[in-house]
Formats: sequence, structure tokens, C-alpha cells
Amino acid sequence: MDFTFVTLFPNLVNPYFEDSILLRAKKSGAVRIDCVNPRDFSLDKHKKVDDYKAGGGAGLLMSAQPLWDAFKSIGEEAYFIFPSPAGKSFSQNDAKRLSKKKHIVFVCGRYEGIDERVVETYADEVFSIGDFVLTGGELASLCMCDAISRMVENVLGNEESLLEESFENTLLEAPSFTKPNVCDGLSIPSDFLKGNHAIISGLKNRMAHAKTYFHRPDLYKIVKNKRNYYAK
Ligand code: ADE
Repeated sequence: MDFTFVTLFPNLVNPYFEDSILLRAKKSGAVRIDCVNPRDFSLDKHKKVDDYKAGGGAGLLMSAQPLWDAFKSIGEEAYFIFPSPAGKSFSQNDAKRLSKKKHIVFVCGRYEGIDERVVETYADEVFSIGDFVLTGGELASLCMCDAISRMVENVLGNEESLLEESFENTLLEAPSFTKPNVCDGLSIPSDFLKGNHAIISGLKNRMAHAKTYFHRPDLYKIVKNKRNYYAK
């Protein structure tokens, strides 16, 4: 799967793919990462990529022309995602759905944002990664790219771990434990050590419910409603 980051700051993006799972994915060819810098497409003699807001207002906007030409160089078949605090909230379901695309382009805004005509023309989807404002779209794009990449075939290696993790079935993932069995006086719940898989899976299910109820009551409401729906 191909990912292109349209960014004025490729040095913020490239290092993320120089270690761990995503480096391995890049080396195996499961994902390809590429950065395109709109500054390289600026027709301005000083390579300017920003300008004042039409009608006034604080701050600068990314101008349309360098972005427009950068996109043309990428090819218009790709799927264009614009990270923005004004977008819809990015979820695990989006990650799963988008992992089936061939080529995703993340358009990383800087300054006070991007000329709206560019968004209107090119955005297939606009996503926010949370109700807070970052200094630019790079970090948000990396978060989404990471979540999407791990759903791509041959990236994780142990694909069955995807089935058990948080947000599958709407519940958060149950707590897990590893050796030693007692650590600083705290024991692993004894049922985990008895080797009875039916008991362990029942316990994990109850723990997943308790954890979701405690940490994410908003999600838990959805679980309960789903149950009622199926009970009807
Ligand atoms: N750009 C700036 N803040 C952002 C956010 N919260 N989500 C996505 N893109 C952003």
C-alpha cells in the first residue's frame, strides 16, 4: 500500500518509518512511504507557499497553487485525506476501511490551515484525531497512517492479535498479564494460571466489560444498545 505525505516538513515524517514495525513493513514492501513538498511546486520567486487571509483575519493560510500542482504530480487517482481539527473523528473502523485502499495521500496543513478551495476540490475525507489543535497535520497524519498500516496484510505478522484488540466488538481489550506471577506483592488473577481456556475467556470478557464501563462509559452505552437491539 502506498502512502504519500504532502508536507512542508518531510523531516517530521520520514524518521517515524525508520524503526520498528513500520521500518520492517517498508523493507518488505508491504507499505511504501513518500513525501512531496509543496514548496518544490511554488511558482513564486521566493518559493512562498502561504499568504494572508482574504478579507483579513489573524495568521496565514497555505496557498492553493503549490498544493494544486503538488497533487497533480502525485496523480489524481489516489485517495486524499485532509487532517483537520474540524474533521470527523477518526476511528478504528476508518483505519480498517482505509487499509483496503491502494494509495492514500495525507495533506498536512500548516499555519492557520489551507485555502478552502483546495479542500473542497480534493478532500475525499477530512479527519480529526481529537478535540485539540496541533501545530500542523503531520502528527495527525502519522497517527492515522500508523493505525491504517497495521491493518494492512503482512505488516504485523501475527494478524490474530488484531481480532482481540480494543474496539473490536466495541469493547476495550481486556487487561493482560505476563511473568512473574507475583510482582511487588501483586498476583496475576489466579484463573489466568489454571490453563482452562473457557474460564479464561469468560473472565477476559467480564474484564473487558468492566474496563469499558469504567474508562469509556460512552462506548459502553453503545455495547448495551447493541445488545438490546439483538435481544429484540
Ligand atoms: N491538525 C491540527 N490539529 C488537528 C487535529 N486535532 N486532528 C487532525 N488534524 C489536525
